[in-house]
Amino acid sequence: MRLGRTEKMMLEGRYGEACKRSLELIVAIAESYGRGELIKIKSAHVSGVSYKSIGDAGLEYLKDLAEGGAKVRVKTTMNPCGFDLDKPWLFDVDETFFKKQLEIIKSLEAMGVQPSLTCTPYYSDNKPRRGDHIAWAESSAVIYANSVIGAYTNRESGPSALAAAITGRAALAKDHTDERRPNVMVEVTAKIFDYSDWSLLGFVVGRLVPDEVPLIKVKGGAMGDKLKCLSAGLGTSSATSIFWTAEQDFQEPRDLKRIVVTNEDLKEVRDGWALTRRPTVIFIGCPHCSLREVKEIARSLKGRRVRRDVMFLILTSRSVYRKASELGLLEIFERAGAHLVKDACLAVSPKKLSRNDVVLTDSAKGAYYAETMTNATIALGGRRACLEEALGI
Ligand code: F3S
Repeated sequence: MRLGRTEKMMLEGRYGEACKRSLELIVAIAESYGRGELIKIKSAHVSGVSYKSIGDAGLEYLKDLAEGGAKVRVKTTMNPCGFDLDKPWLFDVDETFFKKQLEIIKSLEAMGVQPSLTCTPYYSDNKPRRGDHIAWAESSAVIYANSVIGAYTNRESGPSALAAAITGRAALAKDHTDERRPNVMVEVTAKIFDYSDWSLLGFVVGRLVPDEVPLIKVKGGAMGDKLKCLSAGLGTSSATSIFWTAEQDFQEPRDLKRIVVTNEDLKEVRDGWALTRRPTVIFIGCPHCSLREVKEIARSLKGRRVRRDVMFLILTSRSVYRKASELGLLEIFERAGAHLVKDACLAVSPKKLSRNDVVLTDSAKGAYYAETMTNATIALGGRRACLEEALGI
């Protein structure tokens, strides 16, 4: 293991016990990758923030670190928690969950982690630059940061991202080098239109080649928010930390194995999540909506009213929520009876969904987790279908 002077001092405990334990974890990971090297990072993003995901053991671990004086050495943001801190009632939060969730956030904040509470930190809270080495958890954000921004990050877990934040170092793995090349070409003949199609495409590609790094060729290409949806879908069904597109400026490796994704491939998954009854819950924003998406949704809701028998949630980050508020958009959501919510992820919320509930979303990742974690009937639809169902059009 090659270690610098500071790293040796960290392991000797000269920077405190928390830093020592954290570096031991990073070193163990680096040894398992077989490269025996660490790399300095510019930022970190930690997952495992909801009390539902980490429970009492996770809470104690974080409290221990915070009470032991652990501090992050680089800019660090946090993933969503179990509910919107200003609207807990929307998520069926009880007193214990509420209290423990706040303790988790407080412990992370005490270590210097920004309470961004979002899975799209790259929109404003934590914006890496092309070429930056970072240590991020949350698969959708990892894939977006590597593939769309051009940063370098391993697909970290919650604990390893926090350990990297505390030490300012990550294990040097393939994802931090230019060896991360595609090894399969995915030619997409399926028609891809809206956010939901992009997220479904990612999910289907991940199912077809779960252990490969895909080069995805889609006619017309895509940008920004659509690639965010592709990243989230892909991260749900595949182990990759990056995808490539034909628009990227790089020498395409020769003799790539090739697969084709057709309309039929997408239809097969879509049919399994077809809407057969009126939804009781509709959600958009998995991953969290950008300001552009919030504006688009606000335009569709303006002057209209959501059906009274459906809960319509639009998830975003608190920084986008703040901007939406400055632009006077919150009133539009309120008047329409829709809930623009921040801080939260439904997959890790305590929200009670029974087998009588029908949940409609435009996110393949959202549909997958809602199906895995609840007894409700799950449906996947386009964003327009979500809006029309919500408005009863
Ligand atoms: Fe974000 Fe939760 Fe979806 S973390 S990507 S809203 S499952």
